[in-house]
Amino acid sequence: MELFHISAECYPVAKVGGLADVVGALPKYQNQLGHHAKVVVPGYDNKFTNENEFDNIHNGKLRLGNFIFNYSVLREKTSKLGFELYLIAIPELFDRPNVYSYDDDTERFTAFQIAFLNWLVETDQHPDLIHCHDHHTGLIPFMVQFCYNYETLNRTPTVLTIHNGQYQGWFGFDKLHYIPDFNRIVTGFLDWGGTINPLAAAIKCAWKVTTVSPSYLDEISNNANGLESLLRYERPKSIGILNGIDTEVWDTNTDPMLETNYSLENFKAGKAANKRFLCEQFNLDPEKPLFTFIGRLVGEKGADLLPEICSVALNYNPKEINILILGSGDPIVENALQSLQQYHSGNYNAYIGYNEKLAHIVYGGADFLLMPSRVEPCGLNQMYALRYGTVPIVRRTGGLKDTVVDIGNGGFGICHDNVSVYDVNHSITRGIDLYNDKTKFDAVRTTAMQIDHSWEKAAAEYISVYQSIKN
Ligand code: GLC
Repeated sequence: MELFHISAECYPVAKVGGLADVVGALPKYQNQLGHHAKVVVPGYDNKFTNENEFDNIHNGKLRLGNFIFNYSVLREKTSKLGFELYLIAIPELFDRPNVYSYDDDTERFTAFQIAFLNWLVETDQHPDLIHCHDHHTGLIPFMVQFCYNYETLNRTPTVLTIHNGQYQGWFGFDKLHYIPDFNRIVTGFLDWGGTINPLAAAIKCAWKVTTVSPSYLDEISNNANGLESLLRYERPKSIGILNGIDTEVWDTNTDPMLETNYSLENFKAGKAANKRFLCEQFNLDPEKPLFTFIGRLVGEKGADLLPEICSVALNYNPKEINILILGSGDPIVENALQSLQQYHSGNYNAYIGYNEKLAHIVYGGADFLLMPSRVEPCGLNQMYALRYGTVPIVRRTGGLKDTVVDIGNGGFGICHDNVSVYDVNHSITRGIDLYNDKTKFDAVRTTAMQIDHSWEKAAAEYISVYQSIKN
């Protein structure tokens, strides 16, 4: 099949979170199965765009309400990514370094979607399917079906994958005129609770809806930031497919970002070398277990609990553990995590920021990874951790529930049920006990490293979803 994935993020082009990792890997594995999956993302003014070469293959104009923007479509030259990559450049809206968080994000992502569909129509392309990811591309299922400009595409099947149902892209009906002309009788498809809700519109209009784990699909039927009843209603066309990880990028044997590579056979020495490096860099103690958190410092990930979790853990286990935090997000949490440094120097450190190379070394060198998430649609970090021999400590939610089995049940992780400092600290204590039981710790890590979370299975599952709706 010939299809487009359309998304705001794609690793290594532009990454904020796990969405990028999925869009940067799934198409590659679909192509290996003999399909023709291409990826379309906005052309940001970032490192990837500036360091790579592109052919300008199309220029056009788009109308967004009363504004007219020029856009061009750039095709990446080498195709070394395992898929064809197209950037939609709209200089006035995307010539900026960041992916999100601008006041005009509504204008930016609406224009991006319009430009994509204009390009297809202007160049007479008829893909077999369009696969949209999250709310930034959520207007497409509506637009292909109902906008007069895109009539030639109106039989094109669309799939929506929900990576994160918390964010929905809401905007007011005062901006309804941004959307190219359609019969106003179908306006209700855009509406949820009196605003235009791109995620809701996509759930209603896409031919199939997928979530990134089966448990998350169950959970959002009861708790989805206002969309519960809609998701329950659309359940018959919905399916949960667990993400994979890119095992070519995440391979301890070859990962160029690691300080020291290692294999299943010599993982103890390899992990110890990476840990030593981290301990030197961050003034930690290599003899003590190293607990880490990697990710966005937001409430959804339970990051607001981290300052207290760390204080309790470090005060109750003085000099018995190390904690290293790597992430950025809520400034209050960032400050609280930074200020802990002065009290626990030698056992605690925080790197505020995003650093892909450092993240790889932390997966390589850490003993435990904390994921106290309130909401976790899939979670990739626990899978990276497992593959790198780091034991995940997770709250049983969404994809964490689907991928981590507690050591008490013969598994390879430590799990708790509640979003609470007490639960996490209890798990940390269980982690310390495991670390001190060397034979068990090694056995758990050996099992963890052999779990298969590669994309092959999920890539095929998506293809069968596509085939079930193929024209
Ligand atoms: C979002 C979710 C995360 C998921 C990722 C990729 O970032 O929060 O749980 O793994 O998307 O689907």
